[in-house]
Amino acid sequence: MLKIGVLVSGGGTNLQAIINNIKKGYINAEIVTVVSSRKDAFALKRAEENNIEAVCISRKSFDLLENYEKTLISYFESKNIDLIVLAGFMSILSKNFVRTFENKIINIHPSLIPSFCGKGYYGLKVHEAVIKRGVKVTGATVHFVNENADEGPIILQKPIEVYSSDTPEILQKRVMENAEWIILPEAIKLFCENKIVVENNITIIKEN
Ligand code: GRF
Repeated sequence: MLKIGVLVSGGGTNLQAIINNIKKGYINAEIVTVVSSRKDAFALKRAEENNIEAVCISRKSFDLLENYEKTLISYFESKNIDLIVLAGFMSILSKNFVRTFENKIINIHPSLIPSFCGKGYYGLKVHEAVIKRGVKVTGATVHFVNENADEGPIILQKPIEVYSSDTPEILQKRVMENAEWIILPEAIKLFCENKIVVENNITIIKEN
């Protein structure tokens, strides 16, 4: 069975969505470890409650990103991880980390890439920018992670309507519930079933 490592920094609702989908048999894989960059992340509690190994490798305890990543790399290698899922992980990963696990790291981003992504677009800031620009449709994207923030091959996207009554908080909740928690498990399932082919920074999803 495929071994997944999940990197988190916050509440872990996307982690929960993965756990639920493994439990109900939609995804055939095992979450071997959940690693948080912050010790107070609620995601760690969710992992413990589901008997998944939960560790904190705090970004703060390393001066250099290079040393932080070396520790993460040897940790994941020691666990023989096949897929790393960034589920609300707030640190940017360098070329070195990304190349070590090429096309084996996926991320969920709360907009339709290439809109509202890249440096500075994270958390509520994304939804604030969406409302400020007045776009009528936003959504979520699951993509492979490469060395440029939010520029790796796109695996799945799901659109969500923006309403004039939306606040960033309301929109964030709708994007999470109706897009993120659906396409992240779906992309993991595709990966586990070996159905994603990457060519020239583009993915092709194999049909059944
Ligand atoms: C999500 O909006 C995700 O798209 C973004 O960070 C947030 C994490 O939420 N990358 P959670 O920790 O999964 O609840």
